[in-house]
Amino acid sequence: MNRIPTDPFTLDHDAIHPAAGARSVPEVNVEEPFGVEELFFSRTDKRGVIEAYNEVFVRIAGFAGSELQGAPHNIIRHSDMPKAVFWVLWNGLKNGSPVGAYVKNKTKEGKYYWVFAIASPLGNGDFLSVRLKPTSPLLGVVSDLYGEILHAEQTEGLSPEDSAKRMMGRIQDLGFQTYAMFQAHALFEEFESRRKTIGAKQFSDLSNIHTISDNATKLRHEITELSEQFDNAALLIANMKIFAAKLPEGRSTINEIAKNYDLMLRDIRNHLKTLDIQEDFNGLWEASRDQNSFFMLCTSHLLEEMCDNFSKEGCLGGKTSKEDETHILNKLRNTYNTKSIAAVVHGIQSAMVIQRRVDFLRRMILGLSTIRIACRVEAGTLRDTAKGLDNIVARLDDFHDDVEAQLEKIQTAVNAILKGVDRSILGEREKD
Ligand SMILES: Cc1cc2nc3c(=O)[nH]c(=O)nc-3n(C[C@H](O)[C@H](O)[C@H](O)COP(=O)(O)O)c2cc1C
Repeated sequence: MNRIPTDPFTLDHDAIHPAAGARSVPEVNVEEPFGVEELFFSRTDKRGVIEAYNEVFVRIAGFAGSELQGAPHNIIRHSDMPKAVFWVLWNGLKNGSPVGAYVKNKTKEGKYYWVFAIASPLGNGDFLSVRLKPTSPLLGVVSDLYGEILHAEQTEGLSPEDSAKRMMGRIQDLGFQTYAMFQAHALFEEFESRRKTIGAKQFSDLSNIHTISDNATKLRHEITELSEQFDNAALLIANMKIFAAKLPEGRSTINEIAKNYDLMLRDIRNHLKTLDIQEDFNGLWEASRDQNSFFMLCTSHLLEEMCDNFSKEGCLGGKTSKEDETHILNKLRNTYNTKSIAAVVHGIQSAMVIQRRVDFLRRMILGLSTIRIACRVEAGTLRDTAKGLDNIVARLDDFHDDVEAQLEKIQTAVNAILKGVDRSILGEREKD
């Protein structure tokens, strides 16, 4: 059968390494066990040819180190894996984006083991993948999804790219706009599930991002609500102008009040646009700063642990040294760490900017309220001739009450970021 390679560098896998023959070993439906506390990695060249690995990988995969060295990574490919996943993996890596994915692998004996893998470009053309044992309920969801996509590949003859599109559609059905959003969520779920299983401490930098991310979402929602309230007020004022035009007396006063209110309203609505933090994400690799930051921070912690574990393992065989690999792991960890700290700093700075804009908004609304009071006084004077004006004024009062309540919600979210994020931890990490 003609296989369409998902590897974009069209490596002739079978020709390159004798161990590649292991691909034809029959699969058995038996899981190869490994500990949730274990982590393992492999480093490849730009074609996915293995250049380095650790002992845990050797043990689980069941190959000798010498068999892994120089072998194409697809020697551990399991036939239950849809091509779509590898298409996404290579698409991300070629884009310079780290890729997190659930992967079912095959041991030399044909057994299987699931991992959540985070593959990263190293900046020199090589790639590094660090893996953990998935323990969250998401694995079941993804395993079913892979089954469905694999079936579509087999029955509809989808190309890897078309299959990746199909898979992305299903991921969107699960509530993730882009793959980057999905992988950030999945990694966080796995990271937390693993942490709880092994009884490790909670990381305060992750809770910082959690607080920022949670409240940034709330802010987006509350600011949208506020904008809608102001859109409705604009309609109310348009009604007031129509009403004024029909008045037998007091027409010009009411019209003047409505005009002033309208002008102020326009200023406020323009100002509100500066508060609009709606984000639009396209393509596979876009996600919010917070989501990226979750992903990077979890990866950074995993790489730190990977380095720790690796230092306790025996020496590496093959062409590379333990020192060199430790250096590569550490360098990658530092890159992720620096970027995620920058994301926390950005989150705090954004909240500070919003705070200043909300303060300014409050002053503008105070001005608007003054005009509303003038309108209320006028409605009292024209009680007999301007029937119906009372009703408009009452609706304006409701609008102002709603806006006050909405501003409080916004303030609560801003406070949660500014007061809830542990900035001393930030300081400590920056010293690292
Ligand atoms: C860093 C890195 C790690 C990889 N890890 C795996 C892996 O664990 N299992 C796997 O099947 N493929 C892995 N791949 C992808 C393989 O290179 C290959 O694309 C995949 O096995 C599909 O091979 P095929 O197109 O020949 O079927 C990895 C690639 C890279 C760059």
